[in-house]
Amino acid sequence: MAIRVCLAGATGWAGSALARGIGRTEDIELVAAVSRRQAGRRLGEVLGGGAGDGGGAGGAGAGDGGPRDARGLDVPVFGQVGEALAVGCDVYFDYTKPEVAKANCLAALGRGVSVIIGTSGLTEGDFREIATAAASAGRAVLAVGNFALTVVLLQKFAEIAARYIPQWEIIDYASATKPDAPSGTTRELASRLSACGPSKLGIPLEKTQGLIEARGASLEGSQIHSIRLPGYSISAEVIFGMPDQRLSIRHDAGSGAEPYVEGALLAIRKVGALAGLHRGLDAVMDLG
Ligand SMILES: NC(=O)c1ccc[n+]([C@@H]2O[C@H](COP(=O)([O-])OP(=O)(O)OC[C@H]3O[C@@H](n4cnc5c(N)ncnc54)[C@H](OP(=O)(O)O)[C@@H]3O)[C@@H](O)[C@H]2O)c1
Repeated sequence: MAIRVCLAGATGWAGSALARGIGRTEDIELVAAVSRRQAGRRLGEVLGGGAGDGGGAGGAGAGDGGPRDARGLDVPVFGQVGEALAVGCDVYFDYTKPEVAKANCLAALGRGVSVIIGTSGLTEGDFREIATAAASAGRAVLAVGNFALTVVLLQKFAEIAARYIPQWEIIDYASATKPDAPSGTTRELASRLSACGPSKLGIPLEKTQGLIEARGASLEGSQIHSIRLPGYSISAEVIFGMPDQRLSIRHDAGSGAEPYVEGALLAIRKVGALAGLHRGLDAVMDLG
């Protein structure tokens, strides 16, 4: 039996690519979509012409689908997550905005549905609340700051490096219009590196001469510097420094949303086997 998915943000840059990706599978079925502006329509009708909303937080343009990819997208679009969840589903997937994602996630858990959070910008406090709700609902929440395989590998390689090199800093690059900072990708990276950290500082931050802000934001023992400029899509870099040597590990995304689709499909297939809150796609991958 196919896994039934409710997708919030299905008309957006990332969500429309995922909706089309689901439409190409045999084992996953989209049963409801959420978009305030397209409420009342059918998703296939909205995406059938090939364009997502584009120009969203990811900063890139239209999806690459067309009528061929509109298969399996003949589902209702609701204006509210609560209405869409009432249809009944196995997995709720959120690709919306950080200011609503936590409430959406809690609503889905309240209905006994497993949750995947693709939306970035949730805080550590949000995740603590979500973890508590997931435990009491006896359901899983898989939060993935970035579904791209090269990011999963960056995280893994960085965790190995942090075992041997005690000093690092993180740089996060995105388009000028990405509203949240630091990115979900680098928040997740900082959280992972905190198991080996904090990164050792050469000079304590409070002893910085000049502008302390120039040293970046402190998050879970890492300094993060967020660059927001036209010309960037999504990049993340972690630099490890040792006397007379450096190691840089960097991921660069192109302008399309396709790199996130396969990882998101994998998350949908596997989340039902988890319990509680998990962060990062490697929770459902065998990376050794
Ligand atoms: N984890 C990953 O790999 C990954 C990859 C790409 C993007 N992202 C993240 O995913 C999120 C979405 O990015 P995007 O570029 O797709 O944004 P986008 O193009 O602006 O799309 C946002 C989508 O969410 C809907 N939405 C916005 N506010 C809503 C609300 N209050 N209630 C219900 N639906 C709402 C929008 O439709 P309406 O405006 O019609 O409601 C639209 O469908 C961002 O946080 C982004 O950073 C994560």
